[in-house]
Amino acid sequence: MSKEIVKIFDTTLRDGEQVPGCKLETKKKVEIALRLDELGVDIIEAGFPISSPGDYKSVEEISQVIKNSTVCGLSRAVKKDIEVAANALKKAKKPRIHTGIGTSDSHIKYKFKSDRKTISKRAVDAVKYARNFVEDIEFYAEDAGRTDNDFLASICEKVINAGATVLNIPDTTGYCLPNQYAKKIEYLMNNVPNIDKAIISCHCHNDLGLATANSIEGIISGARQIECTINGIGERAGNTSLEEVVMVMRQHSELGFDTKINSKLLYSTSKMVSEIMGMPVQPNKAIVGSNAFSHSSGIHQDGVIKKRETYEIMDPNDVGVNESSIVLTARSGRAAVAYRSKKVGFNLSKIELDKVYKFFLKFADMNKEVKDTDLPGIIKQALI
Ligand code: KIV
Ligand code: ZN
Repeated sequence: MSKEIVKIFDTTLRDGEQVPGCKLETKKKVEIALRLDELGVDIIEAGFPISSPGDYKSVEEISQVIKNSTVCGLSRAVKKDIEVAANALKKAKKPRIHTGIGTSDSHIKYKFKSDRKTISKRAVDAVKYARNFVEDIEFYAEDAGRTDNDFLASICEKVINAGATVLNIPDTTGYCLPNQYAKKIEYLMNNVPNIDKAIISCHCHNDLGLATANSIEGIISGARQIECTINGIGERAGNTSLEEVVMVMRQHSELGFDTKINSKLLYSTSKMVSEIMGMPVQPNKAIVGSNAFSHSSGIHQDGVIKKRETYEIMDPNDVGVNESSIVLTARSGRAAVAYRSKKVGFNLSKIELDKVYKFFLKFADMNKEVKDTDLPGIIKQALI
């Protein structure tokens, strides 16, 4: 079955870099951008050029070196922002301006002290202005997750008429439930008359741990772009994690979607971003955490040693992890001890294994983990 391609819009260098302590100098941002291009992301959001001279320089340099991906710069619905973004993107092979404004009643009333009519006009004017510089314009309706659907549909229709090619529907506060986000996208697909002239993009935050689920529901409902970051880094609880949405689509081929991502580069890219940003990845993080393919309880280890698929739904090689690991702890069984002993050169008979296992448990109860380097000593002690 041929799959529909969902575009991957990576915002590690913009929404991800907004995390306190993750700010990067241009050289490091360029290094990450080159890796994202190699990974196969469709769009790299390189920064918010008007925000600082450093960010301007980063967007400018990334624009010069990226060969395949579209390079995108963020702006508010403000002329000066748009001009500065356009300038920074001048050398990009495929430039995109990402402009927009808050559309929820709370943003309109408290942030802008304005009204829906004025906000609609600002949105349209911003898109029209940006079209003077580049053809590829993405419009974001900030806080779309809490925006009234009728108003959202009307603003989407107007910005498409003004020249927007992509409509970003952010769940800025990570509030929506998957079925609510799905209904919002479905509503837009059915109530924006010119929706065939643009694609909808999901931009979900993870405040309730639902960013991946919401993004997947979004594409099932008609969106064709997902905005995400490596390791899910981003404001507060983070953004949708790139590696998660990519692997959800790969593992659930019945959905009929795929991406252009080279999944074998996922693990090394995760490590690279974590190291450069100084942001550790939690060990139990899906796909790229250090425990994502490691097994430590006896029952699971026995199953994985007999057949990997008993406790693993994906092949670690597919995401660039060499092999599943069998970690020895006091919860491990004989199968795991025999397996790891063999790896370090001891092919134990059943009787030998029984003896070694007793010594192993004593040692394991006193230590968090039993390393390969501990095994020869345990075996020698047990077999003398
Ligand atoms: O979360 C959000 O609404 C954003 C926009 C600026 C796109 O990051
Ligand atoms: Zn965001």
